[in-house]
Order: sequence, then C-alpha cells, then structure tokens
Amino acid sequence: MTFLSNRKPDSKLLLSGLITNYIMNRVCSLSFTRKLSSTTFSSLKTFPLLGSIALITGGSRGIGLAIAQKLSSEGCSCILLSKTESTLQKSVNKLTTVPNSILNENPPNETRIEQKHGYICCDLSAVESIEERLDANLDKLKDVNIVINSAGISQNSLLLRTKNTDIANLINIDLVAPIVLTKRLLKIMLKNKASNKVILNISSILGLRGLSGSAVYSAAKGGLISFTKSMAVEVGSKGIRVNCISPGLVKTEMGIMSSPAFYADKNVLNNSFIDPSEIAEASLFLINQKHITGHNLVIDDGYTIR
Ligand SMILES: NC(=O)c1ccc[n+]([C@@H]2O[C@H](COP(=O)([O-])OP(=O)(O)OC[C@H]3O[C@@H](n4cnc5c(N)ncnc54)[C@H](OP(=O)(O)O)[C@@H]3O)[C@@H](O)[C@H]2O)c1
Repeated sequence: MTFLSNRKPDSKLLLSGLITNYIMNRVCSLSFTRKLSSTTFSSLKTFPLLGSIALITGGSRGIGLAIAQKLSSEGCSCILLSKTESTLQKSVNKLTTVPNSILNENPPNETRIEQKHGYICCDLSAVESIEERLDANLDKLKDVNIVINSAGISQNSLLLRTKNTDIANLINIDLVAPIVLTKRLLKIMLKNKASNKVILNISSILGLRGLSGSAVYSAAKGGLISFTKSMAVEVGSKGIRVNCISPGLVKTEMGIMSSPAFYADKNVLNNSFIDPSEIAEASLFLINQKHITGHNLVIDDGYTIR
C-alpha cells in the first residue's frame, strides 16, 4: 500500500480505473435490483405456509394453541375450534398475522394471498351435532388443507370407579369426535386444489403403553393411532397425508394435572415436562415432509423405549 501511494498517478491507469469503476457500479446496481426482487420473493418465502388454512381442534389452549401459534408464524391462516368462546377469543389474538404490507408486494394483477384467523365454538362431546356445527361455518372451512385434531380430555380414575357416562364422554371427545370431524373435513379437502393436504392427530404414549387409572384414555388414544394408519392408506392416493404425534408429559393444564413424578421416574432423559412448542415444531415438520404418512411420532424423553 505504501509503495503504491508513493507512485505518481498514471493518467492511462486512472482512466481505465474510472471505466472499471463505472462497469463495477453498473454490475452492482444490476445485482442490487435482482437482490431487491429476490428480497420480495424471500419475504414471501419466509412464510412457507402462506395460503394454507388449518383447522385446529383444541386450539384455544395447550398443545393446540402452540401448534396454531407456530403455523401462524409460518403464514398459515388458523381456525381454532374448542368449547369455550371466551378462551377462543383471547387465543385467536395470540396468533401471528403477517402484515398486509408484506403480503401485498404481489403485482396488482396477481391473486392476493391473505392471512386471516378465526374460531369455531363447538362442544366435541356432542358428536351427533359436530357435522352440523362445521356446516354452519362452511365459509371459514371451505379451503382448509390442514386439520389438527388436538382437543382432548384425560382420565385419572380406576375403571371400576369410572361412571359409564364419563367413559362415553371421554371416548366421544378423544376418539369419536376426531373421526367424525375428519370425515366431514375430508369431503372439503378432496375438492381442495392445495398441493399439501395433511391431517395430524395428537394421541399419547398412553395409546402405546398402559397406566393404571387411564384405561379409557388409553383405549381412545390407541384407537386414534390405529385410525391414523388406516386413514393414511385410505386417502393416500388422493394426496392427503395422515400422521400422528404421541407425546409424553407436556407442560399444559392437562399435563400439569397428570403425574409428573410418575413420568419423570420412567423416562430416559429424566425430564419432567416437554414444552408445547416442541410438539408444535414436530407438527410443522410432519406438515412439511411430503413423504411421511401413517406415521406415529413419539416425543416422550425416551419413556416408551424400555
Ligand atoms: N399435556 C400432556 O401431557 C399430553 C400428553 C399426551 C397427549 N396429550 C394430548 O394432547 C392433546 C392436547 O392436550 P393439552 O395438553 O393441550 O390439553 P389442555 O391444555 O387441557 O387443552 C385441551 C383442549 O381441548 C379442548 N377441549 C376439551 N374438551 C372439549 C370439548 N368437549 N369440545 C371442544 N374442545 C374441547 C379445550 O378447549 P376449552 O378451552 O374450550 O376447554 C382445549 O383447547 C389432547 O388430545 C391430549 O390427550 C397431552
């Protein structure tokens, strides 16, 4: 550097330097323009689920809400379904909405993509009226391409002490409702032109392993895993994938009410709770993996491996 700065400037060199500079500036401004348009493109690419619409049962709280929050942060429109309207109203406000200023970077003549969230209030224990409730909300559901069955209740009672009405209620909410709801949504999804159509059921490790005081819950969750596999075979050729997640103990109202000590003793990693956001991450993975269907993904700190 010192050597060069001590030299007298050569006019020919100076001229060629100016020309090189000019060319370099042109090249840079051209590549900058390309970069701008790729920025526009990448701002949409940051939201890979833009244009997708997900119905999430149990979306008002716990695992369902965590999944909805994750999907909405990827650009997905979410419709939360659960029983209590006041909770639904609060939960829908916890979802991410990509600002229209970003979405409307599309050229004016192209179809605008919108991200809109909503909710449906529905008591899933009344299985005979689920279809009617869904039909009453067809305007929200007509383009759904992702269905998450997460709503559920648990059990903490020996079978001999469990009332028949409680048995029926649990089986209805945890098993019959996802089946009936899936049946109605399938008709919608079959007409849908979306490239990615997914049904994801939230089961439990208790669908795979026994636990005293959980016989009815285990029966429902085991049924949900089997339902997942048969449905995956039944609708695979129609381009619909059906998967399942079976979590261990997750830090939600349900998980906290269960027995952390029991699970902590038995799991390989000695963790007491899984964060709901981790189930949401896994859900996103299964939604995006175009070659996975009929799978039951166990997330349990190693509880079921021995
Ligand atoms: N937490 C765990 O440790 C754990 C482990 C394994 C599997 N799971 C499974 O994961 C799923 C979600 O559990 P979670 O821990 O997120 O439970 P949670 O926090 O108790 O939330 C349950 C959700 O289900 C909805 N729900 C319950 N009964 C309903 C009904 N009759 N009609 C409509 N919606 C109803 C609730 O809606 P409202 O707000 O209206 O009550 C709420 O959105 C369940 O299927 C559960 O079995 C949980």
